[in-house]
Amino acid sequence: MVTGASSGIGESVARALRTSGWDVVAVARRAERLSALQEETGAVAYAADLTSDADIQALTAFLDETGPVHALVHVAGGARGADRVEDGRVEDWQWMFDVNVLSAQRLVAAILPQLRQAAASDGHADTLFVTSTAAQTAYAGGAGYNAAKAGESMLAHALRLELNGEPIRVVEVAPGMVHTPEFTVNRLGGDTVAAERVYEGVQAPLTADDVADVIAYALNAPGHVNLDLITMRPVAQSAQHLLARGPLRPRGVESQ
Ligand SMILES: NC(=O)c1ccc[n+]([C@@H]2O[C@H](COP(=O)([O-])OP(=O)(O)OC[C@H]3O[C@@H](n4cnc5c(N)ncnc54)[C@H](OP(=O)(O)O)[C@@H]3O)[C@@H](O)[C@H]2O)c1
Repeated sequence: MVTGASSGIGESVARALRTSGWDVVAVARRAERLSALQEETGAVAYAADLTSDADIQALTAFLDETGPVHALVHVAGGARGADRVEDGRVEDWQWMFDVNVLSAQRLVAAILPQLRQAAASDGHADTLFVTSTAAQTAYAGGAGYNAAKAGESMLAHALRLELNGEPIRVVEVAPGMVHTPEFTVNRLGGDTVAAERVYEGVQAPLTADDVADVIAYALNAPGHVNLDLITMRPVAQSAQHLLARGPLRPRGVESQ
């Protein structure tokens, strides 16, 4: 099951897993986008709002009928606002906690019994959470998202400890800058010009497919290999605060 499959990284993950032979249930709120993905890739579309307990219950019942689920791949999430702490809007912070942290808890609680069933028949099962480098390093204007993604990351850490002794992997993938069509636009309240400025001049930000490749690698690795935390960034982004804009050039070498 892949959440966030209607756009960006989640959509690419659904494609990548279909390509490597997985049956995929693709989850997000926008049913029409999921239907198009289903048509194209054979990933089964299931529309659900992961902040709704009723939707999670219905999703779990659906998976019970078609399951058991072998891998819970939680990509859905996002950021709202880039305000200083003193200017932050509580409703933005609540949304970020709900969609990034609480949805992860709701999904684990609902689907772990199915993962255990799958592990009993297959030898192992997987959980994978897409957090962010924002979970590791704070930046000015990032506090709400920093806190939410750090919360999701801590959930993954604690879950790995709680599942010790069971053949269930807990993998965290923490990307830096990924150029997806909606993430920054949504973060900045629909301001597409400001969103494009974020990526301006950056040579080769990560793409959704780059992240999907790594996720597929982690899930397709032998079942005893747990990639705890994969931090990945574009080469141009050495750290959260150190982003090169303009072409990347080796120093002291004439360009050819
Ligand atoms: N882009 C980046 O630079 C970047 C970097 C590091 C980490 N990340 C993380 O990677 C993940 C995906 O990012 P992205 O760039 O692919 O962003 P995106 O295109 O905005 O994708 C977000 C996905 O989450 C789904 N979603 C949001 N709220 C939901 C809800 N209440 N219920 C169900 N699904 C919901 C959206 O689908 P619907 O709107 O159809 O529900 C969408 O498919 C996020 O967790 C993000 O925090 C992104």
